[in-house]
Amino acid sequence: MKKNYGLMIVFVLAFVLLTAMTAFAFTPDAQQAGSTPEPSGKDVLVVYFSATGTTKGVAEKIAAITDADLYEILAADDYSDADLNWNDRNSRTTLEQNDRSFRTEIGSDPVNLEGYSTIYIGYPIWWGEAPRIMDTFVETYDFEDITLIPFCTSASSGIGRSRKILEENAESGKWLEGRRFGGNVSEDDLRSWINSLQ
Ligand SMILES: Cc1cc2nc3c(=O)[nH]c(=O)nc-3n(C[C@H](O)[C@H](O)[C@H](O)COP(=O)(O)O)c2cc1C
Repeated sequence: MKKNYGLMIVFVLAFVLLTAMTAFAFTPDAQQAGSTPEPSGKDVLVVYFSATGTTKGVAEKIAAITDADLYEILAADDYSDADLNWNDRNSRTTLEQNDRSFRTEIGSDPVNLEGYSTIYIGYPIWWGEAPRIMDTFVETYDFEDITLIPFCTSASSGIGRSRKILEENAESGKWLEGRRFGGNVSEDDLRSWINSLQ
């Protein structure tokens, strides 16, 4: 009898261990840390890159107003203060912006665009254009049947040629005019801009 109890315990332990191992092995990638979240069912997405937080603030306001999902484009290699020094002719940003063909590597997990019909796409103006990482982004995805609404922040420059270059490099999607904002733009101003797009 004693022997049987021992055998039962071994069986139970083996079963528990096997169940735990199987569950772990079949956990979908999406549930593991750092992977792409599944689409939420919303049809508006706000995508943005922001080196010092200004565009991020505007992106978050737009997402709140439009009840959108948010996706942050991160550089694989973070920009340091020295990298962002526009007074330095040899800083990383100066070198990247001087080279139209440069493509900054994206470090954030890819985003699944399935289900989104509208994408607000935001970035800071660097030397009158979008940062090169935005070209990497638009060249990575297919925007067929998606309306893209560019927005940017800057010290003073307008959106200028930045959106046209992104549209040309994307080669897909319906691109609206887009608009430049200061970092302190109010929710009311953003709301009336968003309403004017409809
Ligand atoms: C490398 C670099 C170049 C910039 N070039 C311009 C420019 O041409 N015109 C302008 O108005 N602001 C320029 N700025 C200022 C940024 O566009 C502005 O601070 C922006 O709001 C920063 O957004 P972020 O905090 O989301 O990165 C530049 C900033 C950097 C770092």
